[in-house]
Amino acid sequence: MAASASFCESRTGADTVNASSPASPAAGRFRGQVAVITGAARGIGLAIAEAFLREAAAVVLADVSETELQGEVRRLRRVHDATALGVAGDLSTESGAQALLDQTQRAFGDASILVNNAGGGVILPFLSHTPETLRATIDRNLWTTLWCTRAFLPTMLRNRYGRIVNLGADSVRNGLADHAGYNAAKGGVHGLTTGLAREFATAGITINTVAPCAVNGEPLRKFMQQKPEVAQRFLSVIPLGRAAELEEVASMVTYLASRDAAFVTGQVISVNGGSTML
Ligand SMILES: NC(=O)c1ccc[n+]([C@@H]2O[C@H](COP(=O)([O-])OP(=O)(O)OC[C@H]3O[C@@H](n4cnc5c(N)ncnc54)[C@H](O)[C@@H]3O)[C@@H](O)[C@H]2O)c1
Repeated sequence: MAASASFCESRTGADTVNASSPASPAAGRFRGQVAVITGAARGIGLAIAEAFLREAAAVVLADVSETELQGEVRRLRRVHDATALGVAGDLSTESGAQALLDQTQRAFGDASILVNNAGGGVILPFLSHTPETLRATIDRNLWTTLWCTRAFLPTMLRNRYGRIVNLGADSVRNGLADHAGYNAAKGGVHGLTTGLAREFATAGITINTVAPCAVNGEPLRKFMQQKPEVAQRFLSVIPLGRAAELEEVASMVTYLASRDAAFVTGQVISVNGGSTML
């Protein structure tokens, strides 16, 4: 990945969205709070951003994919009575994460919620990985989480309140084939979760990870087309017999980010249809 990131608001000022729609919640759990969601241009991250918007948070959607991000921020402006900002840039770099923090501060002030969702699997037998695919796997999943967490923690510490929710992966424990490289990255996210949760436990900051198995989004659909037998093996480990819907993952994230989850920290919580139990 490039050493630096060029961040830009997808539309200056006007990207801070305030539009009316019938979907407006009368009251929301996150009213008055700022939530930052990484990897929010599509898929699970976008569903998480929408879940926070429905519950009245001011939401910062961050992603390396600027065109997709701009399009989604425009759509959110049309359909939600919501306050949202799109920030484009590569979050696997320290400067990228710092730029996200700076733009969040300028637009909305202190964020109390950070969802480290940016990531995605490069699912290959280990020896089929190239140096590039291995680096990309670690960059996307682990470095984005490390740098963004490092950028946003000091403000949470100053405010004695914060919620960090990471996206991990159930494959770290359910034994799916061809996941070793990806599991190395997501295992790092799981380990960061438990370590940080202890370190910040008395500071009003909780840190948890949501670990999905297969989720009904574009990456799984592509995999089904390209390697149907392998994809079928992934689904066959799920007792519920199907992939999770995006919203089923998002609702666990918003729960962990809420004040209701004050006594839950350092947990890796699977949303996996039972593919691992206990
Ligand atoms: N889809 C699944 O079945 C599944 C299963 C387990 C875990 N997960 C995890 O859930 C999260 C979301 O998955 P998804 O299926 O929505 O993936 P996705 O590929 O649809 O979306 C991931 C987003 O992250 C963004 N991103 C990647 N690298 C980035 C970077 N360096 N800086 C900024 N943005 C970056 C991408 O542009 C993309 O918009 C990921 O962390 C993924 O590993 C997904």
